[in-house]
Amino acid sequence: MISKMKIDKADHYDDIDNIYQLIWKLLEFGKKNSNSDMHQGYLATHSARYPSIRTVVLRGVDKVKQTISFHTDFRSEKIKEINQNNKISLLFYDHDQKVQIKCSGIGLINNKNDNSDKSWQRTQSFSKKCYIVDKAPGSTSDKPTSGYKKEHEIELPNEEILNSGYENFTLVSMEVSEIEWLYLHRHGHRRAKFIINNKDLVKKVWLTP
Ligand SMILES: Cc1cc2nc3c(=O)[nH]c(=O)nc-3n(C[C@H](O)[C@H](O)[C@H](O)COP(=O)(O)O)c2cc1C
Repeated sequence: MISKMKIDKADHYDDIDNIYQLIWKLLEFGKKNSNSDMHQGYLATHSARYPSIRTVVLRGVDKVKQTISFHTDFRSEKIKEINQNNKISLLFYDHDQKVQIKCSGIGLINNKNDNSDKSWQRTQSFSKKCYIVDKAPGSTSDKPTSGYKKEHEIELPNEEILNSGYENFTLVSMEVSEIEWLYLHRHGHRRAKFIINNKDLVKKVWLTP
């Protein structure tokens, strides 16, 4: 399986318009290729105690709608945090390409609606299994636990049981309003920022790295 999208420094180093196109191509590639570094991102939310961050799998990239999305459990802390403050960021880093992309925007929670339904239909059985845990993710336990019933730990449960996870399954879609690009290079790094308003790119600017 291909895990890298080869990008050429000459095509983007000093070309801010190409960088913007490349950002969406890299994210799209990351979504499609599970071996790509950008298949995962690091989601930051606001919490009352500390800044909150965790890994999530990139599940949707839409350059036209200017959205990126991931799946999660409706009962998770991140959903509570997004409900309290819907400003979120997702950070991606491709180690070989030396590219970091930070997307920030508004997180929209889709649970038991048309959008989550469409995503659920496209979700593979082994991924659906994540949503059948009895207790909410993050619940304390007095013994080591997977959260699954014993009989579901190794075997994939039947369709009916898998489908019981639907009510926990949640699609979070971020309406992107800012993107930051950082490219590391020994001759000098490059950093750029893009502002998006109402699905349109309204500002692009170089930053000192
Ligand atoms: C490689 C990797 C991918 C992950 N993907 C997801 C994901 O797509 N959605 C998700 O909710 N949690 C995912 N997790 C688990 C989260 O990082 C996190 O531990 C969990 O969702 C609980 O987060 P919260 O308590 O802040 O809500 C992933 C973890 C790893 C290591």
